[in-house]
Amino acid sequence: MKIPEKGLARDQVLEMLREYKEGDVNYQDSKTWSLVYYLGEEHTRFLTEAYNTFISENALNPMAFKSLKRFEHEVVRMSADLLGGDDNTVGVMTSGGTESCLLPVMTYRDRAAGRGLFRSKKPEMIAPQSIHVAWEKAARYFGVKMVHAPLRRDMRVDVDAVRKRINRNTILIVGSAPSYPHGVIDPIVELGTVAREHNLPFHVDSCLGGFLLPFVERLGYEIPTFDFRVPGVTSISADIHKYGYSAKGASVLLYRNMDYLKHQFFVHESWPGGVFISPALLGTRPGGAIAAAWASLKAIGMDGYLGLARRVMETTAALQEGIRSIPGLEIVSNPEMSVFAYRSTEKKADIFAIGDQMEERGWQVDRLQRPEALHAMVTPLHERIIEEFIADLKESVKRVIADPSLAKKGNAALYGMIAKVPLRGMVKKEVLKMMEQIYGPEMKMPY
Ligand SMILES: Cc1ncc(COP(=O)(O)O)c(C=O)c1O
Repeated sequence: MKIPEKGLARDQVLEMLREYKEGDVNYQDSKTWSLVYYLGEEHTRFLTEAYNTFISENALNPMAFKSLKRFEHEVVRMSADLLGGDDNTVGVMTSGGTESCLLPVMTYRDRAAGRGLFRSKKPEMIAPQSIHVAWEKAARYFGVKMVHAPLRRDMRVDVDAVRKRINRNTILIVGSAPSYPHGVIDPIVELGTVAREHNLPFHVDSCLGGFLLPFVERLGYEIPTFDFRVPGVTSISADIHKYGYSAKGASVLLYRNMDYLKHQFFVHESWPGGVFISPALLGTRPGGAIAAAWASLKAIGMDGYLGLARRVMETTAALQEGIRSIPGLEIVSNPEMSVFAYRSTEKKADIFAIGDQMEERGWQVDRLQRPEALHAMVTPLHERIIEEFIADLKESVKRVIADPSLAKKGNAALYGMIAKVPLRGMVKKEVLKMMEQIYGPEMKMPY
């Protein structure tokens, strides 16, 4: 494959793009339960226009594109207001949840290093076993040891276990609001108290919940306080490209004040290319993503987000009620918002085989392990498919119970094996091999 000697006609290229897209999962019909937060064509067209208005602009240099710096500033201020911040709250926009989780690890590591902490040993951070993998990535990238704290039976982190894991090398405590796997909020108030007792920074990963929970709370649902209103919280990540319904590539990372954020800034003063400053991970920062995030917050507004949150929560309740009504299935714990896991209560109803059956019926479902479960991330448009989904799920459970051999076939056998293999190193080795094939010169896809 080479770049064409002679460029193709633009129309032809656009046609090819559309054709390639046909093999992708179809989120427009609401049969997908992750990856896309889709509000329909009208909102997508609006985001496209906002994005395209700044498609070439670069937020690398805030002096050159003052418009982008203004959008970023306003997004940070609006987010700070939403998440219990005050006039001292500061922050940056990032390319997404992962960047908003990577950066605090580096920032708090460098802050601790500046204070002469952990001089002889590797710095450590304490996070629940359910913490998003972005934090494991951060640990690896920035040479910080990840110390996991176990979960209680309700899948929220055991605060006493966190307390017991604190030592002289601890630089950071992390909690989720909510966690990705089970959609439950860790005991943020209690963790905040522990952090304050030990004078440690405390980050709340609210990448999923940051633009939904404040509205769920305003609707009158009982939501434990999880944001800057909790005194020990020093930073929060919240993704605008999730429940903020923006274009991909937009998240916000907020710190309680500049005493923390300043450790994130990168300045290189003697580069031949000039004095270089950077507030976050990327160099070139896409103007389109920043402008579209700003546009999304402005156009949807508090009333819009409230209405969307109501639809999301009502749809979630209906889906959960439907799942609970199916003998052999249950919801894992009691999630506060619209992300949840469901699993089987009967040995015969193998949950991964049920997942395969759902896929045969056109649903795109994600599998969880430890405990084995299926996953749902509910968006407003899922309201259209509640009955169809529950009917298909009922059928799938019936079919698997009638034919237990389905658990030993197809993806169920593969996922079942992966989830149960005690030697995790072996799983890692196999998956790494698979990655070499996907990213190898021949792009061999596993399925
Ligand atoms: C709690 C949490 N943190 C971080 C992330 C990472 O976000 P992204 O996929 O935007 O990098 C996710 C993604 O789902 C998440 O749920």
